[in-house]
Amino acid sequence: MTSPPINVVVLISGSGSNLQAIIDARQHYPAAFNLGLVLSDRPQARGLQRASDAGLPTRVIDFEKLANRENFECLLIEAIDRSDAKLIILAGFMRILSNNFVNHYLGRLINIHPSLLPKFRGLHTHQRVLDAKCKKHGASVHFVTPDLDAGPVIIQGQIDVLTDDTAAILAARVLKIEHKILPIVLNLYAQDRVKMLQQTITLDNKVLEQPLQYNPDDNSVVDNKLTIVI
Ligand code: GRF
Repeated sequence: MTSPPINVVVLISGSGSNLQAIIDARQHYPAAFNLGLVLSDRPQARGLQRASDAGLPTRVIDFEKLANRENFECLLIEAIDRSDAKLIILAGFMRILSNNFVNHYLGRLINIHPSLLPKFRGLHTHQRVLDAKCKKHGASVHFVTPDLDAGPVIIQGQIDVLTDDTAAILAARVLKIEHKILPIVLNLYAQDRVKMLQQTITLDNKVLEQPLQYNPDDNSVVDNKLTIVI
């Protein structure tokens, strides 16, 4: 018997292209998840329009209008918990979250990051990859832990860095990978196949030795033994 759809809350700060990928993924993963709420820390986030166009409930908790991060996070937690979310997705969410917030949702809070973690945690990853003359780049989806971009990585997708790549071109090419791997994780989590276990990840109740690898050529996902898992 398939499990009932899980309630998901998505946190955004900007364009919301990863949110759009999740919205569009519903047709591929029918009944796996409900998008209960889209929350933004910025009223001008374009992703809010994407959510409204998809008929999703939205809420702005305007960080700039609140006295401090505690008030902000208190309102965030209240909104998320009221929606009975099983999974919280940081999709282009640019606010640093406190240990208290992260620990409140440990194991059900994931983030999409535009680098091959643990390389290039933090911001401006594309330019840093070019400056470091890396040959490979990509994106990672990881469980969020108190240390920034340091949580266990669930899946990665790689691209070659090309000689004429600029940060903007790389960003656009990495974004295409992000839009594929985030819905894959969402569906694995909704099916209860992926879980966080202390600092490791289990897939189908077996510890993942390495992040899953997404292959853009055939949309397949393999584990470290190159066994196809999707
Ligand atoms: C993406 O590269 C995401 O990984 C980063 O912000 C960029 C824009 O994301 N955090 P989105 O278009 O707002 O989803």
